[in-house]
Amino acid sequence: MNDNSGLDSAQLADSVIPASADPFALFDDWFSDAKNNEPNDPNAMALATATPDGAPSVRMVLLKGHGAKEGGFTFFTNSESRKGGEIRANMQASLLFHWKSLRRQIRIEGPLVEVTPERADAYFHSRAYKSQVGSAASDQSRPLDQRQDYLDRVTSLWAQHKAEGKVPRPPHWTGFTLKPERIEFWIDRDNRLHDRRLFTLEGAGDALSWSDTLLYP
Ligand SMILES: Cc1cc2nc3c(=O)[nH]c(=O)nc-3n(C[C@H](O)[C@H](O)[C@H](O)COP(=O)(O)O)c2cc1C
Repeated sequence: MNDNSGLDSAQLADSVIPASADPFALFDDWFSDAKNNEPNDPNAMALATATPDGAPSVRMVLLKGHGAKEGGFTFFTNSESRKGGEIRANMQASLLFHWKSLRRQIRIEGPLVEVTPERADAYFHSRAYKSQVGSAASDQSRPLDQRQDYLDRVTSLWAQHKAEGKVPRPPHWTGFTLKPERIEFWIDRDNRLHDRRLFTLEGAGDALSWSDTLLYP
């Protein structure tokens, strides 16, 4: 016998993710909820890259800028890292936000564009001195014989630039903006009848616009 107790079909029939001409605005709504609810790093997102021959890899990074004006979603990193090498070889990526306390997920896909050196400088120097030192001293993703080697570099850089209170940005420390072509919003609903809405960028040149559709969960 089917157990339909608790199936509120009137309440579940409508999508709670609004159709919109602007998925960036919807992202802002959800991001604002995340900032008010997530105990740590609401801007943390998984960044998936792939090698030219298609081997995927994924790691977390922090979202440091986003929006229609910005043209996408921006993060910063060491471009000589594993991810940096993969990005240089294949300028496409996928981002994933999962806000556990809200039971929401956003998936974003598209090509990557490197930020200008001016933007990278501005963000690098907006960070605390200790963060500038830590990242400038790191050969991110390369083998480290012993942690003391890293600490020695940190100590030396720290002393070298302490007076001016800022470290020159290493040229390989940069940022990338993912220019979204697909943005999918997912939200948990009762009875596992989850709700998904996919926005796809269509058209070309000045005639770009977003279309959206619901997806079966
Ligand atoms: C919550 C969180 C946020 C992170 N943010 C960044 C970031 O913004 N940039 C970065 O280079 N690494 C960040 N990391 C470290 C990366 O996950 C990863 O360890 C590092 O970038 C090396 O990745 P790769 O070897 O794939 O290049 C973060 C890790 C966590 C857990």
